[in-house]
Amino acid sequence: MPFELPDLPYAYDALGPYMSAETLEFHHDKHHAAYVTNGNKLLAGSGLEDKSLEEIVKESYGKNAGLFNNAGQHFNHIHFWKWMKPNGGGAMPGELEKAIVADLGSVEKFREEFLAAGAGQFGSGWAWLAVKDGKLSVMKTPNGENPLVHGATPLLGVDVWEHSYYIDYRNARPKYLEAFFDNLVNWDYVAELYSKA
Ligand SMILES: [Fe+2]
Repeated sequence: MPFELPDLPYAYDALGPYMSAETLEFHHDKHHAAYVTNGNKLLAGSGLEDKSLEEIVKESYGKNAGLFNNAGQHFNHIHFWKWMKPNGGGAMPGELEKAIVADLGSVEKFREEFLAAGAGQFGSGWAWLAVKDGKLSVMKTPNGENPLVHGATPLLGVDVWEHSYYIDYRNARPKYLEAFFDNLVNWDYVAELYSKA
């Protein structure tokens, strides 16, 4: 199936002051759109045209770098828009919180580990909460890579490419990560993914 750019699930100015309309216009309309356009060009003739996006990501990994980079980023961004909402952050659904406490110690420890993963990812990439073999863990990946190619299911990811924060935070990636975690995360969507994992 050809890749399609989804609409943002909120208005461009809905995430202010933590993420500006200008950032979302560039990030969604230019960057995500380019992954879709380039991904479709590379998907044609790849032999993976009939696969799902998840299958394309997993099957192109390590074999077709161009397609993988664009398909991976398409997958990551589809979810990234849904991992945020206006007035996000704060309390998370009980089942998810219980699992985080059981596997990662406490919500505060998870927050610290997640922010450290994002700040510590050298160059472009993502930090993740993922589930592997029934257990939650924090991961980080370079460029367009994601937990799918490491046998894990992503539950939450934060984009640490400069295009995600440079307009609003300049080089202050840790400030962006704190604002994302504390004010933007849509925990209901994270919990929904957890219940399906
Ligand atoms: Fe991005």
